[in-house]
Amino acid sequence: MKDFHELLRVRRSTRKYTDEEISAEDVKTIMEAALMAPSSKRSLSWEFVLVEEKETLERLATCKEHGSKLVAGAKLAIVVLGDPMKSDVWIEDASIATTIIQLQAEELGLGSCWVQVRNRFSDSGESAEDYVRELLNIPLPMQVLAIVALGHKAEEKAPFDTEKAAWEKVHIGQW
Ligand SMILES: Cc1cc2nc3c(=O)[nH]c(=O)nc-3n(C[C@H](O)[C@H](O)[C@H](O)COP(=O)(O)O)c2cc1C
Repeated sequence: MKDFHELLRVRRSTRKYTDEEISAEDVKTIMEAALMAPSSKRSLSWEFVLVEEKETLERLATCKEHGSKLVAGAKLAIVVLGDPMKSDVWIEDASIATTIIQLQAEELGLGSCWVQVRNRFSDSGESAEDYVRELLNIPLPMQVLAIVALGHKAEEKAPFDTEKAAWEKVHIGQW
């Protein structure tokens, strides 16, 4: 168990993964964490599709033009969905769950990367969301927010340099 502040410092987007499988126990811990995520009015507006099959991971990796190829090398993809009929703030709910998934993965020593799907497009101009919906049989009105790619880390990244924290973003009292 890492100190929480240290966990935030060392979490970096990992886009290269080893061949080692993620244990069933780790997957359970990650999903348990996601299911503890806060949601507006406790709407539980999110749902998750877990993908481990290599061929499906490779297909997910082509859902958009940029920034999704890394999914092909992941051991697990968690596709994060939200239901706009359950909450008008499903994007916030689903984003919090996605963040929690990444932090729980880091705490377990795993690497992860958020791959944006909502509002993104494939090479041919097809909506990435429609592509993922069709591939995984996701019914309407569920919306696809993102894919979290996960695996054991095959790259080392420097922790966040707190000397470079963007303190100019913080306004005291008023803008
Ligand atoms: C909303 C959101 C969408 C992102 N989409 C992608 C993506 O599609 N592909 C990708 O490789 N990384 C994606 N990222 C990861 C960011 O590029 C990364 O978090 C940022 O560059 C900071 O690097 P770090 O996570 O290593 O601190 C996304 C992150 C967020 C929060």
